[in-house]
Amino acid sequence: MPIEFAERIRRIPVYPAADGYALPGDVALLASNESPYPPIPAVVDAVAAALGGLNRYPDPTNATLRSALGDRYGVPVPRIAVGNGSCDILLAAGEALLEPGAELVYAWPSFSVYPHLTAASGARGIEVPVDEHHRHDLDAMLQEITAATRLVIVCNPNNPTSTALPLDEIAAFVRAVPRHVAVILDEAYCEFNLLQDPDESIALLDRHPNLVLLRTFSKVYGLCGLRVGFALCGSEDFRSAVDQVRQPFFCNAAAQAAAVEALKHQDEVARRVERNLAERLDLRDGLRRIGIEPAESQANFVWFDLPEGVDTQPTSSAGTRERDTIAALAQRGVLVRAGAALGREGALRVTVGTEAESAKFVSALGSLIA
Ligand SMILES: Cc1ncc(COP(=O)(O)O)c(C=O)c1O
Repeated sequence: MPIEFAERIRRIPVYPAADGYALPGDVALLASNESPYPPIPAVVDAVAAALGGLNRYPDPTNATLRSALGDRYGVPVPRIAVGNGSCDILLAAGEALLEPGAELVYAWPSFSVYPHLTAASGARGIEVPVDEHHRHDLDAMLQEITAATRLVIVCNPNNPTSTALPLDEIAAFVRAVPRHVAVILDEAYCEFNLLQDPDESIALLDRHPNLVLLRTFSKVYGLCGLRVGFALCGSEDFRSAVDQVRQPFFCNAAAQAAAVEALKHQDEVARRVERNLAERLDLRDGLRRIGIEPAESQANFVWFDLPEGVDTQPTSSAGTRERDTIAALAQRGVLVRAGAALGREGALRVTVGTEAESAKFVSALGSLIA
């Protein structure tokens, strides 16, 4: 007899991770929205210094990191949660807020971890299609809020569609959501968004105790290999609830040390964002040259529907056009993410890499277009 697992194991989707990490040679990793730049040298030194203390558990209260985050973002420390990546806080929010009979509202396509929250908890998920410009339809999302709604997630800029909404539209949305419904504004990519200053949304927290801004060191700070994220919360209650449902010591010592050091290097972070923005425009222009118009990106990745004329015959198995294209690109040393796994068959999501990586990708895709 096979092992009998809990029913939710059949419901929880498997995270669509890129499967090319073992590919040999010089591969452009453009599938996971990572930073193409290595960590800041002082951050590497801080991690090295932390290694000598690994015989001790890390600080379970994350006091130094939370205090540094409080100084940087101007939010009281009791309202700051830290996690093993921001995903950790997201999943903990699902555990703390959702249960059978409860509802979660989010846009679709959006971050592939959101469906996990309902599958794990037995709550009902309401996926509200993005509009024709690939942006959240906030009016339609508001219509879906019922007495059963416990949590609404807005991803801005949205992964995978790369688009963002102006902050005033989000502020009006948060005002219209009943106060007992938690709103997570997932801002994993907010630093790449030219529509608003990343610090602007923080002011909303003082007016909305039900609001949570979810942020990460994985993207702009380039530390996804260590797993550390944080949430700036409108209320201390949210922070203590997500702490309560997690294992103790949920943020490791090297990650805490790295994040504290990274926060001291805002100028370097800003320089990296600027480079990334320039490379985003170059990538967009490269796509236009081969006849593709991506969605208007405010993130470190682009999103587009594959054109009809893509010819993947040389490598094609019995897959979809999208899967074949991804396989053909992998053969040419470029890894990108399939849209189907992210809610749109026939689309691709491509991370903004270095200039050379983008050029390699555009040339590889261009060679497949008839
Ligand atoms: C929208 C969004 N939110 C959250 C995360 C989670 O990031 P992490 O757990 O690395 O902090 C990601 C990662 O890709 C993301 O795209």
